[in-house]
Amino acid sequence: MLIKEVYLENFRNYDKQKIELNDHVNVFYGKNAQGKTNILEALYFCSLGRSFRTHREQELIQFENEHSKIVVKYFKNNRDSEIEIALHKNERKSIKLNKIKLNKNSELVGNINLVLFSPDDIIMLKEGPAQRRKFLDILISQLKIKYLYELNEYNKVLEQRNAMLKSKRIDGIEVWNEQLATKCEKISAYRKEYVDKLQEQLTTIHPKLTNELETIRIQYKSNFKNKEQFLNLLEQKQELDLLRGYTSEGIHRDDFEILINEVPLNAYGSQGQHKTAILSLKMSELMIVKDEIGENPILLLDDVTSELDTSRISSIFENIQDYQVLITCTDVNSILKYDSLTKNIKLYNIDRGAIQNKGE
Ligand SMILES: Nc1ncnc2c1ncn2[C@@H]1O[C@H](COP(=O)(O)OP(=O)(O)OP(=O)(O)O)[C@@H](O)[C@H]1O
Ligand SMILES: [Mg+2]
Repeated sequence: MLIKEVYLENFRNYDKQKIELNDHVNVFYGKNAQGKTNILEALYFCSLGRSFRTHREQELIQFENEHSKIVVKYFKNNRDSEIEIALHKNERKSIKLNKIKLNKNSELVGNINLVLFSPDDIIMLKEGPAQRRKFLDILISQLKIKYLYELNEYNKVLEQRNAMLKSKRIDGIEVWNEQLATKCEKISAYRKEYVDKLQEQLTTIHPKLTNELETIRIQYKSNFKNKEQFLNLLEQKQELDLLRGYTSEGIHRDDFEILINEVPLNAYGSQGQHKTAILSLKMSELMIVKDEIGENPILLLDDVTSELDTSRISSIFENIQDYQVLITCTDVNSILKYDSLTKNIKLYNIDRGAIQNKGE
């Protein structure tokens, strides 16, 4: 798929700005705090209905303004389409797909397929498992509508079970255990399937990015093995759960670990190794989405060149030649020195929330 145009109105530090995109490489360069990442954020917002920087949508509306609008025109499945999101200070956001209002955020997900690399993604590998689950959940829910539904259902059952535990009235908890196990089984199957798919892609991509110096392995960690085992586990942990007032076992505790050359990354990895591993995961995501939807997703690379050596950056750029890419950077020469990107490139100089000059 291709993004043709992005229009921003009162979004972050933009007044009114139309951005006509090139089908291949788009580089947004400029000094710090000028609005480069804001453009990627707007596009991401139209893809998933949420920002990668905040859950407070109000922050997206330009200071001193009451409303904000983003319109993205794109080409997918051989047709032109358009997504429009309007934000109002004290109202729910309104989402339109081809001028028709969507009722739920989940109806938006899956229309614009993109993969974002942000410097903050490193947190995903360094900190707790919640971010890693989020990565898997976003990947799968973009591709399987059913997944998001199952996950919501799971959370409802979990909430009910936790309420019981908290109130210390657990008559009939077996019914909830059974339901929890059934939901776990479904979600776990999806997660296993997609971790396997990630591994398949990672095996090819990671050695390429590291000059064949590193191997990578992703290990899915879950206390759910099968329904019977899980029901036993719930029973074993019941006393503890009652004391704590919440459910200690289930797919809400799942995690994955990354091993580089068979050594755990989070314990021994360097900063550059973390960044490369994240990029390998993102590139794998890109390939999986491409295989499943039969279209090339868009790649958003926020500040990708810092902290990586030239050979790693060079191989990233060589591997994304078929994709439409939006890159942000402070120094445009840090991008222009790579031959693989310069064939079909459009540059945008971002200054105080506006595009100052552009050229092919
Ligand atoms: N709601 C808002 N209204 C007006 N301006 C805002 C709003 N939210 C953020 N900004 C401004 O946007 C700018 C930051 O934009 P952005 O994060 O896109 O910068 P950047 O060009 O990516 O910078 P860096 O190179 O440091 O990453 C800041 O100047 C900030 O004050
Ligand atoms: Mg930025």
